[in-house]
Amino acid sequence: MAPMPLSPINVGHIDDVQEIRKAKPTSIPNRFVRNKAERPSLSSISPLSSSSTIPVVDLSKVVQGSRDEFHREISNLAVSCEEWGFFQVINHGIRLDLLESIEKVATDFFMLPLEEKQKYPMAPGTVQGYGQAFVFSEDQKLDWCNMFALGVEPHFIKMPKLWPKKPLNFSETVEEYSREIRTLCQKLLSFIAMSLGLNKDTFEDMFGVAVQAVRMNYYPPCPRPDLVLGLSPHSDGSALTVLQQGKGSSVGLQILKDNTWVPVQPVPNALVINIGDTIEVLTNGRYKSVEHRAVTHKDKDRLSIVTFYAPSYEVELGPIPQLVNENSPCKYRRYSHGEYNKYYVTNKLQGKKTLEFAKIQAQN
Ligand code: OGA
Ligand code: NI
Repeated sequence: MAPMPLSPINVGHIDDVQEIRKAKPTSIPNRFVRNKAERPSLSSISPLSSSSTIPVVDLSKVVQGSRDEFHREISNLAVSCEEWGFFQVINHGIRLDLLESIEKVATDFFMLPLEEKQKYPMAPGTVQGYGQAFVFSEDQKLDWCNMFALGVEPHFIKMPKLWPKKPLNFSETVEEYSREIRTLCQKLLSFIAMSLGLNKDTFEDMFGVAVQAVRMNYYPPCPRPDLVLGLSPHSDGSALTVLQQGKGSSVGLQILKDNTWVPVQPVPNALVINIGDTIEVLTNGRYKSVEHRAVTHKDKDRLSIVTFYAPSYEVELGPIPQLVNENSPCKYRRYSHGEYNKYYVTNKLQGKKTLEFAKIQAQN
């Protein structure tokens, strides 16, 4: 029998958020207006209380500190990953001018005319190019955000046709930035392994040629930030995510801690790191892949440059045996990262729902 033709998915018309702003600066199309339960209650957030500040990890103390400083910072890292799943890293070793250059090419790209950006379209149901990812139906609400995403490594995930010719130095900058971020991810993973009492090369040895992708998110100002979301709540499918917030951007990233949305206050020149689903599974839930979202601002726009770092697709994942014991019975099954990735990119962003894929169902 002939195989059933795959029906193309119908995602309806997706308005470009920057163009909506230009055409009608004070109104919001219905498709962006969230149902009441999903709207961000912006007033209930207290950004100033210190208990609601995500931890800061000073990488220079780990790399070149005294023994004491090293141990203190590694335990700071452990607590950050266990209790927050998020931290900001300072003295990360990435050149400031490179952070500035990537921000500049990303901003210049988003400021190009729509026709130019649309030369690199994200096809419905795919995750690379310019547009909105994770939209799978006509009635799904949209995020107040324009995205541009590219696969970077290994070579076969790269789609050269989607790498823009303008701004001129876009590709070289993304490539250089990605090399540096890759090294940072490798360092962080070795410190994360040490913080778990594992051999420092545990993840590096396991991951093969790691998959790396970059997504630039541009959130234009929104006349009614209380009605929309910049980015729907989700956890990342990666092992680690590195997020750079544009200088002078409004506060927008929020993480869910103890059932409260906690805003991430930008620290100058720091990078925000978060644990993805893969590390949650490998550590049998000890290090958390925490749900997060982005909200918008009435007058200010916001840019983020996000790198996802994950194992090679053929790598088999499951809790690391040393982290499974009587007190911490095995919570996740074994699967390949490729299977997980496929599942992740074909489902809409919905909190931590994608991790259900990996959970061992309770027996009764
Ligand atoms: C992401 C993400 C948050 C932000 O791209 O996965 O969580 O602040 N972005 O842009
Ligand atoms: Ni994310």
